[in-house]
Amino acid sequence: MIRFDILTLFPNMFKGLIEDSIIKRAIEKKLIEVNLIDFREFSTNKHHTVDDYSYGGGAGMLISVEPVHLAMKTIPNLDHAKKLLMSPSGKTFNQAKAIELSKEEHIVMVCGHYEGIDARILNFIDEEVSIGDYVLMGGEVPAMTILEAVSRLVPGVISEDSPVNESFSDSLLEHPQYTRPAIYEGFGVPDVLLSGHHANIKKWQREKALEKTLKVRPDLLKKANLDLNDYKYLWELKNEKN
Ligand SMILES: C[S@@+](CC[C@H](N)C(=O)[O-])C[C@H]1O[C@@H](n2cnc3c(N)ncnc32)[C@H](O)[C@@H]1O
Repeated sequence: MIRFDILTLFPNMFKGLIEDSIIKRAIEKKLIEVNLIDFREFSTNKHHTVDDYSYGGGAGMLISVEPVHLAMKTIPNLDHAKKLLMSPSGKTFNQAKAIELSKEEHIVMVCGHYEGIDARILNFIDEEVSIGDYVLMGGEVPAMTILEAVSRLVPGVISEDSPVNESFSDSLLEHPQYTRPAIYEGFGVPDVLLSGHHANIKKWQREKALEKTLKVRPDLLKKANLDLNDYKYLWELKNEKN
């Protein structure tokens, strides 16, 4: 069971995710718990504002550290939780990070908005996490991304072998997959998949994964666990290209 506490100014944004589909079932089965905390409720001024101008100037408003920190302090066992700040200047989130986080029991995610949060929030945070090299309006979509990616690795949330075969599990992208009908508008399914020959199917899937990774994300191949047959196949592919 992983407990997630998400600090946000926009808790409603999470409703679709936690009140539907697999995440909803995971919550019902008590495999994960998701608590949404609106840190505007911890504003100490009478207008309930949480943002202010930044010292030294600069466009836009910055979220003050106090309401966020006061909200964090209400979380039980905060000291033992992994505390993440959603931030474009954090380390980029990936499947390896999702696997690492799936071993935690308690994850706190802080979502910024506007121009971000007063940098002193970092005194109460373990890690800044980015979901990619682009700037979003808030940390809600990044927090949802992490919530999804981590939750599906919790045993029982999805069928057991799915995470083993999919993209990035072996630093390779996943091979293409097909379902019925066998022919759609003249486009067929590769014969080998209809052959019932298990070894040939496995070989084809591995080769297609290598082919796709070489074409789309060759950088991943450096980290992949490749055997002699893989290297031979990649060598053939590269020679074909030249
Ligand atoms: C408009 S952004 C602030 C950008 C900030 N001024 C900067 O240049 O780094 C507002 C909030 O969205 C979230 N955010 C935006 N892009 C993100 C990304 N790629 N990964 C994670 N969080 C992001 C962060 O919580 C951030 O505090």
